[in-house]
Amino acid sequence: MTLHAEPVIQIRPYVAADRRACIAVFRSNLPRYFDSSELPEFEAFLDKPVGDYFVLELGSSVVACGGCYVRAGTGRLSWGMVSREKHRASIGSILLAWRIDQLFQLPEISEIAIDTSQHVAGFFTRHGFCTTGQVTDGFGAGIAQVCMSLQRINWRLRASASLHPTAAGGD
Ligand SMILES: CC(C)(COP(=O)(O)OP(=O)(O)OC[C@H]1O[C@@H](n2cnc3c(N)ncnc32)[C@H](O)[C@@H]1OP(=O)(O)O)[C@@H](O)C(=O)NCCC(=O)NCCS
Repeated sequence: MTLHAEPVIQIRPYVAADRRACIAVFRSNLPRYFDSSELPEFEAFLDKPVGDYFVLELGSSVVACGGCYVRAGTGRLSWGMVSREKHRASIGSILLAWRIDQLFQLPEISEIAIDTSQHVAGFFTRHGFCTTGQVTDGFGAGIAQVCMSLQRINWRLRASASLHPTAAGGD
């Protein structure tokens, strides 16, 4: 009988040696999720990240990356992405929840905002974000800029409901 162990998931701070792997994750999401014109901006970000930036390793491979920072009293999420062949395997949710917890650990943060595309707005809605605005072609032809935000109270209520489902659902 052969036993197959699940690869270990680890989230750790980005280091310069991760640059190539992060760019590969970005490229895997072209052209549906990112416009190629955004690559120089992402490369410049990797050279000098704003706030904290993290990679998620599955086994020894970097398969996702994403960051967070604070601007004008609001938590912000930056450049979150999962390698295309690993989509829909809960990796994006794990990295998102981890970044949200990082920001809401700061007592002064009561809201987290993100600018994303129409292709993934549903993912953020699923995690409690609400749409606050939209710019057609804001990120390039066919890629709208969708502004969304998450309130601390909603995140806490969701966490509480998942820990105590009967309390939230009643009976
Ligand atoms: C957005 C992204 C990070 C989601 O990561 P993921 O690992 O695929 O997401 P998960 O597997 O954790 O998804 C959990 C749930 O969210 C929802 N979801 C995931 N991707 C979605 C999408 N593109 N649109 C709508 N809902 C989505 C699904 O309901 C999914 O549950 P399911 O198992 O029933 O399908 C990933 O699609 C990605 O990297 N996209 C390209 C980069 C990008 O656009 N990033 C956002 C920048 S702001």
